[in-house]
Amino acid sequence: MTTTHRTAGNTPSSLRYDRRTLWQKDKDHFIHPFTDFSLFHEKGCDLIVDSDGIYVEDAHGNRFIDGIAGLWCVNVGHGRAEIGQAMAEQATRMAYFSTFNNLSNAPAAELAAKLAELAPANLNHVFFSCGGSAANDATIRLVHYYFNRLGKPSKKRILSRRNAYHGTTYLAASLTGIESNNWDFDTLDHLVTHLSEANLYRRPEGMSEADYCDHLVAELEETIVEIGAENIAAFIAEPIMGAGGVLMPPQGYHARMQTVCRANDILFIADEVVTGFGRLGHFFASEAVFDTQPDIINCAKGLSSGYAPLGATLISDEIYKVLGTPQRKGGVLSTGFTYSGHPVSCAAALKNIEIIEREAICENVREVGPYLAQKLKTLADHETVGDVRGSHFMLAIENVADKATKKLLPVEARVGDRVAAEAQKRGLIIRPVGHLNILSPPLIWDREVVDRVVAILDEAFAATTVSLKADGYL
Ligand SMILES: Cc1ncc(COP(=O)(O)O)c(C=O)c1O
Repeated sequence: MTTTHRTAGNTPSSLRYDRRTLWQKDKDHFIHPFTDFSLFHEKGCDLIVDSDGIYVEDAHGNRFIDGIAGLWCVNVGHGRAEIGQAMAEQATRMAYFSTFNNLSNAPAAELAAKLAELAPANLNHVFFSCGGSAANDATIRLVHYYFNRLGKPSKKRILSRRNAYHGTTYLAASLTGIESNNWDFDTLDHLVTHLSEANLYRRPEGMSEADYCDHLVAELEETIVEIGAENIAAFIAEPIMGAGGVLMPPQGYHARMQTVCRANDILFIADEVVTGFGRLGHFFASEAVFDTQPDIINCAKGLSSGYAPLGATLISDEIYKVLGTPQRKGGVLSTGFTYSGHPVSCAAALKNIEIIEREAICENVREVGPYLAQKLKTLADHETVGDVRGSHFMLAIENVADKATKKLLPVEARVGDRVAAEAQKRGLIIRPVGHLNILSPPLIWDREVVDRVVAILDEAFAATTVSLKADGYL
C-alpha cells in the first residue's frame, strides 16, 4: 500500500517541544477527559508529539505502533500530508463562514452529497456537528422535534442499552449505559430507558446464541408494552458496542430489533461513530454487515480520520420531509452549531474519504481483519485471557481470574493497565478499559504488522501473568 506521510525526522522547528516544560504545563492546566486523578497528580501525562503512518512517538523519542488509531479514529493512519494540505488550502482560501440562514460553503456541500452517496439508499440528508456526542445529542433533539411535528408529542423516551457509549454531552451521557461513566454525574433519566446489552460472552449460563437473541428481542417487546409505544421515540445502538467492551451481538440481533421498532413506530438510530468509515470493512456497517436500514446513522471519528473535529447525522428521506417543512410561518429549524459544516473539517473529511477509496482501505480491512482476529485468538492460551472477541479492526481481550467461572480479577489488580504497560514497554500502544484491553488500529495494518503486534501481545500477557502472580492476584 503506497502512502505519503510526514516523517518524524523532518519535523519543522516550530513543532519541536521542550518536553519538561510541556509536561508541567499540561499537569498544571489541562483537565483531561477520562483521567484517573489518583495517578495524574503524581505522574502527569505521557505526551505524544509525533506520528507517522502506523506509528506515534512520545516526547522522549520512543516510537510505538498505534494499536488504537488515536481513539478509534485515525483510520487512514497518521501524518497524511495530503489531508494537511487540503485543510491548509481551505483555511487560507476561506477558513470559516456561517452555514446558518441559507448560507453554505463548498466542502460542506460536497461532503453532504458524498455521504449521501456512501450511505444506505434512503439516507440522503446530512446534519453536521463537531463530534460523536454532539451528533447523538443533536439527533435526539431532531427526533423529538420530528414527532412533535407529526402531532405525536408524547413520543419522547429513547431506548438505549446498558454498557452503550454514546458520548458525554448531557444527553449523550444519559444515553450512555456504562455505569461508572456516570458515577456522581446527573443524567436525564426521564428521557432514557436502558435495555440489556447484547453480550455473547456473558450471556446467561447455558443459553444458546439463538435463544439469547430471542431473549433480548423479548425484553425490547416487553419494555415497549410497559412504557407504551406512544411514549417511545427511538432506539439507539452501536452495531458493535465499542467502549463498553467490544460486545458482540448474537446473529440477527440488530435486524430483529429493527423489525420490532418498525412495528411500533420507533425510529432505529445506528451510532456508527466507531464502526463507520471502514473499521468493519465497509463505509457503514449497518446494512452491509448487520442487514439493517436505520432511519438515522451517526458518524464522527473515522469520517475525518481525526484530522479535524467533525460529526454527521445521516437522515432518511422520510424524516427529512418533516424536518424540511417550516413548522409555522416565519419558523426555521432552530438547531445547529456555529461549526456545523465547518469548511476545514469538511475538506479534511473529503480528502480522507478519497484516500479510503483510492487505497481500497475497506478492502484491506476485509482482507487483513479476519487474519488479525484469528492471530489474536492464539492469545487465549494465556492464563488470564477469558475472551478474545470483535470483528475486523475492532477487537478486545477480556481478562479474567478464572476462565471457567469468568470471575474477574479485583479492580485494584489493574489488569488492563498492566497488560497495556507491558505492551507499551515493547513498542505497542493498546487501550486498557478496566479489565479489558482494546485494539482499534489504523486501517492500514498489513499481515506483517499483525504478526509483530501479536508477538508483542504474547510477551505482554506472559509478563502480566508473572506480575499478577508475584503480587498475589493469581
Ligand atoms: C459509539 C460512540 N458514540 C459516540 C461517541 C462520542 O464521540 P465524541 O467523543 O466525538 O463526542 C463515541 C466516542 O468514543 C463512541 O464510541
